[in-house]
Amino acid sequence: MSPKPVLIAQISDLHIKPPGVLAYGRVDTAAAFQRCVAALNAFTPKPDLVVISGDLADTPTAEEYQHLKRLLAPLKLPFVGIPGNHDSREMMRAAFPLASYAFPSGSLSQSVEVSGLDLVLLDSSVPGSPHGELDTPTLQWLETTLASSPDRPALLFLHHPPFKTGICHMDRQNLLNAGELAAVVRRHARVQLIAAGHVHRATLAMFAGIPSTICPAPNHAVDLDLAELREPSFKVEPPAFHLHAWFPGEGFGSVVTHHVPIGDFDGPHPFFGPDGKLL
Ligand SMILES: [Fe+2]
Repeated sequence: MSPKPVLIAQISDLHIKPPGVLAYGRVDTAAAFQRCVAALNAFTPKPDLVVISGDLADTPTAEEYQHLKRLLAPLKLPFVGIPGNHDSREMMRAAFPLASYAFPSGSLSQSVEVSGLDLVLLDSSVPGSPHGELDTPTLQWLETTLASSPDRPALLFLHHPPFKTGICHMDRQNLLNAGELAAVVRRHARVQLIAAGHVHRATLAMFAGIPSTICPAPNHAVDLDLAELREPSFKVEPPAFHLHAWFPGEGFGSVVTHHVPIGDFDGPHPFFGPDGKLL
């Protein structure tokens, strides 16, 4: 029997507001997140870890992080988080003081090992700015971390995508020093996936020769306006999360990313009847 895959669920851009407050006056992000937690709890087999790739809060305020913690309480899976542009490093560190942060203050980068798979979580937030950037200590820490166990596969997570999506108002605020990330990644063959958030929609690209994704959100999506027809806008599209499955094997094994819609859907129904014939 082939070895069991390591399952990493990625959720992103929760944008939790204070209780009873709607995001942009319209989106109940808390209710959307409750549905997301229910979907994660119901998923079989159990994911080994949940990675929250930024924008946990919205404004942000300490009250929003407290609300987030209440909403996270029913989650039956371990989780780790990195900040996005809507987060505060200090408030997030105060809300989740037990995480193994790489730095005693500032950046909330951290690395986690799950059954032979390394997850490297990079804090790309820039206090007070919507765009992303990896500062010099973070890039140096990434280099050292990747060099420390060269035989183990590694997945990188960060909030800001290092590649263009074609949605111009988002591309202006993506990872501005993507070239510096690419230079590090190219020196380490063990990087198997780069997984971002920020754009609230499922996206796939190649970056520095590595498959790279954007995780959809449990709430609203950034409008797929590739022609700049409208002011920056959002749309309430079907919510989802990503499930990254790493299969151990030759070399660094292999990784596949599943897009998992959140909601109640008809099925599953069998393809075949009791006689073994297609229904
Ligand atoms: Fe963001």
